[in-house]
Amino acid sequence: MRIGILTAGGDCPGLNAVIRAVVRKGVRFYGDEVLGFVDGYRGLIDNEFMDLDVEKLRGTLPRGGTIIGTSRINPFMVDDGVDKVRETLAKNQLDAVITVGGEGSLSCANELVGLGMPFVGVPKTIDNDISLTETTFGFDTAVTIATEAIDRLHTTAESHDRVMVVEVMGRHVGHIATWAGIAGGATITLVPEHPFDIDEVCAALTQRHSSGRYASIVVVAEGAKPRPGTLPTAPDEYDEYGHIRLGGIANVVAGEIEKRTGYDTRVTILGHVQRGGTPTAFDRVLSTRFGVAAIDAVHDQAWGHMVALQSNHIVLVPLADAIAKLKPISAELWDTARHFFA
Ligand code: F6P
Repeated sequence: MRIGILTAGGDCPGLNAVIRAVVRKGVRFYGDEVLGFVDGYRGLIDNEFMDLDVEKLRGTLPRGGTIIGTSRINPFMVDDGVDKVRETLAKNQLDAVITVGGEGSLSCANELVGLGMPFVGVPKTIDNDISLTETTFGFDTAVTIATEAIDRLHTTAESHDRVMVVEVMGRHVGHIATWAGIAGGATITLVPEHPFDIDEVCAALTQRHSSGRYASIVVVAEGAKPRPGTLPTAPDEYDEYGHIRLGGIANVVAGEIEKRTGYDTRVTILGHVQRGGTPTAFDRVLSTRFGVAAIDAVHDQAWGHMVALQSNHIVLVPLADAIAKLKPISAELWDTARHFFA
C-alpha cells in the first residue's frame, strides 16, 4: 500500500517513535511505501512530503519533536483545503493516511473520513485529554519533567521560606498538574476541572505555615480558573486557530497569595520545556505500540478509527467517540490528590 502519515497540532515527545514504528512495520512487514506529509495537514494541502524509509528513521526513537514537522493548519479553515487534500491523495495514489494528532487534528481526520477519505488516527497530546484511551504518549514525559522541576523547587523554597507557584500545561484538563502534584508532593494543586477559591487556597497555606512549616508548592494547571466571582482575571486570548492561549494564571495566583498572606512567593512557568526533548521509556514503548497498531489498522481498512490504550491492551475505537468530549481527571485521582493538600 501507499500510506501517508502526518503529525498535527502541538508537538509531543514520542512522535518520531510513532513514525518509526509505522515505517518499520509498514516497509519491512507489509512492503508498504510511506510518505511523510510535512507540517501536518499543510503538507496534504500543498502536496509536500518526504519519502520515509527505515534508514531515514534511524536514531529517531529517543528524539523529541517530529522529523516531518507539525502545524495547526486545518483543511477546513483553508480555501479549497478539502479539495486539495483529495487531489493530493489521488495524485500520490495514497491508499490511506495516518493522522497523529490531538483532539482538533483527529476531529479533522474524522470529518475527512465522513467525506469518503481513508484516515486512521493516533492520539497524541501531553495534556492526556483524549477520551477512550487511558493515556496518550508524551504525557508521561511531561509529568516526569514537571515532577523533577517541583523536586528542585522544594529545596529552594525551604531555604528561603517561600511559596512557589508552578504553572504546568493543561489547557482544559489537569492531568499533568494532578500527577505532577501527587508525585512532587505539592501543597495544593489547581486544575480546570475544579475551579478554585483563592480565599480557601490562602487559608490552607496560612494554616500550614502557622503550624511551623514555611515552604509550600502550589501547582497550577494553565487552564485553572477561579470560582466565578471570586477573583477577577484577564479576558481569555485566542490564537489564529481559535485555541485559547493560556499561560499566566500562576502570576495571578502568586500575586494574590503574597498580597493576602504576606508570604514571599515566586512563580515558575514551565511552558514548552514540558513538550521538548527525549521521551521517557514509557512513552517510547507506547508510541511504538501505537505506530504498529496504526499500520495494522490501515491494512484492516479501519477508516475512522483511532488506536487507544485500554487495560494495557492496544485497541481500536471510533474516532467519532474519542473526540466527542475531552477526558477530565477522574474523581478517584482528584480525591487522592486532595488528601495531601496543605
Ligand atoms: O498540545 C497541547 C498544549 O501543549 C497545551 O498544553 C498548551 O496549552 C498548548 O499546547 C500550547 O500551544 P502552543 O505550542 O501553540 O503554544
